[in-house]
Amino acid sequence: MLIDDYNRVIDYVRISITDRCNLRCRYCVDGDFPFIPHPEVLSYEEIIRFVRICAPMGVKKVRLTGGEPLARKGLSYLLCELNRIDGIADISLTTNGVFLGDKVEELKQAGLKRVNISLDTMKKDRFAWITGVDAFDKVIESIKKATYSGLHPIKINTVIIKDFNDDEILDFVRIARKWDHEVRFIEFMPFGDSSLWKSTEIVTSGQIEEVIRSKFELVPSERSDKGPARVYDIGGGSGRVGFISPVSSHICAECNRIRLTASGMIRPCLFSDVEYDVKSLIRSGKSDDEIKEFIRAVVKVKPERKLEMGAIRKCQRSLRNIGG
Ligand code: 5AD
Ligand code: SF4
Repeated sequence: MLIDDYNRVIDYVRISITDRCNLRCRYCVDGDFPFIPHPEVLSYEEIIRFVRICAPMGVKKVRLTGGEPLARKGLSYLLCELNRIDGIADISLTTNGVFLGDKVEELKQAGLKRVNISLDTMKKDRFAWITGVDAFDKVIESIKKATYSGLHPIKINTVIIKDFNDDEILDFVRIARKWDHEVRFIEFMPFGDSSLWKSTEIVTSGQIEEVIRSKFELVPSERSDKGPARVYDIGGGSGRVGFISPVSSHICAECNRIRLTASGMIRPCLFSDVEYDVKSLIRSGKSDDEIKEFIRAVVKVKPERKLEMGAIRKCQRSLRNIGG
């Protein structure tokens, strides 16, 4: 098993398979950004080997993220191969949804079980303003196709930012109900290339919950899976809402994950810029056992880290590089 110095069991790896993205969300990047050169990005074979090495150490769950994972060719191949690894029980995807509709059947056949789709507004014009691309209809179509294809549960990731989309909180709850999906409100985190982040613009989970409770009853959900989200059923109907509160509350004690960046660095903590270069080991002919020991040592030094409002330090890397 992979256990850190604070007795947290690590059974979950989030892998950013590309830093490239077809959108330019304002809270993620300030317009265009340089891409990591292709040779620096881990190949699928390297990613597969990494997961093969992790699985016997107790990793059961893999999430593929980006950038936009569907911006990289051949994702179905990667899914298929990861699915064949003994011990990997759950493979999921976080996507902005634009390309998902066209690929959903293929991805399902390759073994995809679940998707999280990022969507920060239900207004077409605002979507174009936030992301720089007029693709709202595509995303909605993708959500429908994913639903019909039986991918379940579908989670919608929504980042609420003051004077940006905080007038849509209740609309998202209505959507969760109507579509019987889980809308997860993620607190805006101090990441990256975007100059948008200021602590004053954070709408906390508590504030969002207050708005929702003014109109809906929230009942703690029994279907909540292990993880940092607090999940509620919406009284008197279908759908759920979840709150992910990395900024306003301490979620670090339950952390069960490490991250692998597109350029092959292990990032033990989302909020710490300290990363460990596993790509060099993979590319210098080290054995599986040597890499295993390296991963074990990196997990050991995973910081305990607690995030507190006000005391937050801006991270250097954008979520685009780390995969959220
Ligand atoms: N704070 C919170 N969430 C963010 N995401 C991207 N940047 C930020 C940020 N600064 C979200 C995306 C996506 C998920 C991977 O992370 O909207 O849903
Ligand atoms: Fe938007 Fe995600 Fe792409 Fe960043 S990586 S621009 S948040 S879709």
